Amino acid sequence: KPEVISTIDGLRERIAAAKNRAEPGPAARVVLVPTMGALHAGHLSLVRRAHARGGIVVVSIFVNPLQFGPTEDLASYPRTLDADVAALAAEGVAFVFAPEVSTMYPDGAADTRVTAGPVAALLEGAVRPGHFDGMLTVVTKLINIVGPDVVVFGQKDAQQVFLVQQAFADLNMRTEIEVVPIVREPSGLALSSRNRRLEPTEKEAALALSAALAAAAAAAPDGLQAAQVAAHTILAAQPLVKLDYLVVVSPQDFQPVAAGFTGPARMLVAAHVGSIRLIDNEAIDLG
Ligand code: PAJ
Repeated sequence: KPEVISTIDGLRERIAAAKNRAEPGPAARVVLVPTMGALHAGHLSLVRRAHARGGIVVVSIFVNPLQFGPTEDLASYPRTLDADVAALAAEGVAFVFAPEVSTMYPDGAADTRVTAGPVAALLEGAVRPGHFDGMLTVVTKLINIVGPDVVVFGQKDAQQVFLVQQAFADLNMRTEIEVVPIVREPSGLALSSRNRRLEPTEKEAALALSAALAAAAAAAPDGLQAAQVAAHTILAAQPLVKLDYLVVVSPQDFQPVAAGFTGPARMLVAAHVGSIRLIDNEAIDLG
């Protein structure tokens, strides 16, 4: 069973002891998997990658108030610590860091924040002002608490991955970033902690997101417009899906691509299905 640790000093002590015990080399490498809990197979695939990258795996479970807006689902965000710890036990995780909010933010909130680059104002950031600063602030704190050699993120949150990579480069962070592909249900639906709040009819409708991306990827050799039309056609056929954005961005700068763009790109979709907001994305190769 993993040790569940809620204090910063306690965690640092246990990690230092584990490093001392480990044979120098890969076994002594510390790998951090930051999560907000309500773990599913997507998170567990990050944990498996973590084990492949080092011998001391730390999973953090912390629902970070700083990255939720005033009207967002902070209070109702699923909290399932016992089930999460059981799932991590089955994965052979050594340490779970599950701090209280007062441990991470003793003064109520961080006065000092990490400011994400301008891409943070687009897409997810446009609907969630301050979200990425809050995310980067807690990720930086977790890195400084754990001191990992590697930190693992999922491609599910593509804009988060871009901004973390940019911040780590800009701030000369020593921790290496490992990115894991999106884990999906057999239906195509990207796994998300919020899926458990979908009604059966909503879950059915939510399949339009991944189906739209797959159709766009198939149409991409015919160009940007063909990809967009293919995706929009599928999304528009689902009245329960209220589209927030459907955009194709360039992997280099995460800016929406202009007409005529060719080559590797990423299509991103966000939509409300009922009261639940879902996101998904897929690499597409525009011809
Ligand atoms: P959370 O939403 O719990 O996600 C934790 C990690 O799991 C993220 O890197 C996310 O991209 C990844 N993930 C979620 N669903 C996935 C899926 N279906 N396939 C692959 N990876 C998936 O993202 C956060 O938490 C927070 O912003 C955090 C980084 C922990 C900072 O608070």
